[in-house]
Amino acid sequence: MNYHASKENILNGTSDCLCLPLFTDGKLCPLGSQIDKQLDNSISKLIEKFKISGDSGKTTLLPLDAKNFQRILLLGLGEQEKLSKASFRKATKSLASTVKETNIQKLALNFSNISLSDSKHSVSETVSEVVLAIEESNYAFDQFKSKKATASSLNEITFHTDNNDTEVEASIIKAQALSAGMSFTKDLGNMPGNVCTPIYLADQSEELAKSCDKLSVKVLDEEELDKLGMGAFVSVAKGSIESGKLVVLEYKGADDANEAPHILVGKGITFDTGGISLKPGPLMDEMKYDMCGAASVLGTLKAITQLDAKINLVCLLACAENMPSANASKPGDIVTTMSGITVEIMNTDAEGRLVLCDTLSYAEQFKPASVVDIATLTGACIVALGDAASAVMGNNDDVINALLAAGQEAGDKAWQLPLWDEYQEQIDSPFADIQNIGGKGAGSITAACFLSRFTKSYPWAHLDIAGTAWVSGGKNKGATGRPVPLLLNYLLSKASK
Ligand code: BES
Ligand code: MN
Ligand code: ZN
Repeated sequence: MNYHASKENILNGTSDCLCLPLFTDGKLCPLGSQIDKQLDNSISKLIEKFKISGDSGKTTLLPLDAKNFQRILLLGLGEQEKLSKASFRKATKSLASTVKETNIQKLALNFSNISLSDSKHSVSETVSEVVLAIEESNYAFDQFKSKKATASSLNEITFHTDNNDTEVEASIIKAQALSAGMSFTKDLGNMPGNVCTPIYLADQSEELAKSCDKLSVKVLDEEELDKLGMGAFVSVAKGSIESGKLVVLEYKGADDANEAPHILVGKGITFDTGGISLKPGPLMDEMKYDMCGAASVLGTLKAITQLDAKINLVCLLACAENMPSANASKPGDIVTTMSGITVEIMNTDAEGRLVLCDTLSYAEQFKPASVVDIATLTGACIVALGDAASAVMGNNDDVINALLAAGQEAGDKAWQLPLWDEYQEQIDSPFADIQNIGGKGAGSITAACFLSRFTKSYPWAHLDIAGTAWVSGGKNKGATGRPVPLLLNYLLSKASK
């Protein structure tokens, strides 16, 4: 898709369809009224005649006899005063799906006099939402289908603007990078477990590194992990014939190559059967999504490289397949982690924390400015927050608050759960230093308690994305690309301008 910013009057453009906002009361925006006047009130007459609704998300396509345009697309934005980022996003989704059903090739819009009640940067925000919605509507995971999705006719969008075309341009570039990162994350997530194995994630990381001079990659295999003393990581990986991999990606974008890096750690369980503590059958196919933490890290990194962001970033992907086998760990097994802490494996299905804990210890050598791990860690997180928000917990309020703010800003929300000391005793073990599960309650918190034992030497937060990373079941099943928007905003807030 080609996106442009233009300071030219929208009526002199060369698009074949003009998109105008319409509010609930049938009112056009100031610019729309101006255009309407220039067209002898033909738009308002049609709105009145056909009682066209401006309810949020309603779209109406009208034929038009203007010099340059054959059609007008009225986009319902609901009540003008109540227009928020969320309701605007909803409207852009129907804009994108309506356009996709037509043969429109070039779309022109000017939303520069639309203001969103909860945004200080309405112009950038509206541009970004349109780009994201169009890209999202064109996303298809059809590489395993004989019949491919039909491509949209649309190939050009021009954002007309009164004066801030540099702002519009910057917003287009950022939204395109974000979309590219999200698509990458979705592709990796949707990829079946027989293709997307630990070595596949390592190969994809190497491909990404080839595309960027500032990015280098190193892959540690199971043998090397064993030598490093990562007994917990290896206890998961050894149950599978696929070798476990720790992928280490280093992006040096800051002016000072020695500036302390930020670190993202992703859970990359390419399939989670539960191991010997086998999961029940229904929905087990969705455990191919158990590497969405790692996938969101790679998607974010892709966006960072595309934007050439000025930040030092280390990405660590903890990749393994959790299988039951003669080599698999058993409940009651005790392993020694890289940190020296011993763990009694009470349930082999609590494997995410086992691969993450050693990876979090590995992160120490980078003397990081912050560490954020991202994981589809607990079913309990879905019970607590559903798909509205990822859960965040950690040992540092600055990191937690920056993540919460980044998510709010991106419309990719996170919500903090308490990581109080009261919960820590749930992971006491009679035979080892700790065990890998807590009791009945607060499953997401006790999982974070476990991780907290390995993150004492740096500012750290954990994102549980079990409810947000993919849409479960049914026809709409698929990876969402979350929390790439949150993570990208977070890192850009740490990058130099
Ligand atoms: N990957 C799962 C968590 C999960 C389950 C995410 C379903 C999304 C949907 C994780 O490895 C797991 O199995 N967690 C267990 C932990 C339990 C054994 C303490 C869980 O949540 O049931
Ligand atoms: Mn599991
Ligand atoms: Zn898992």
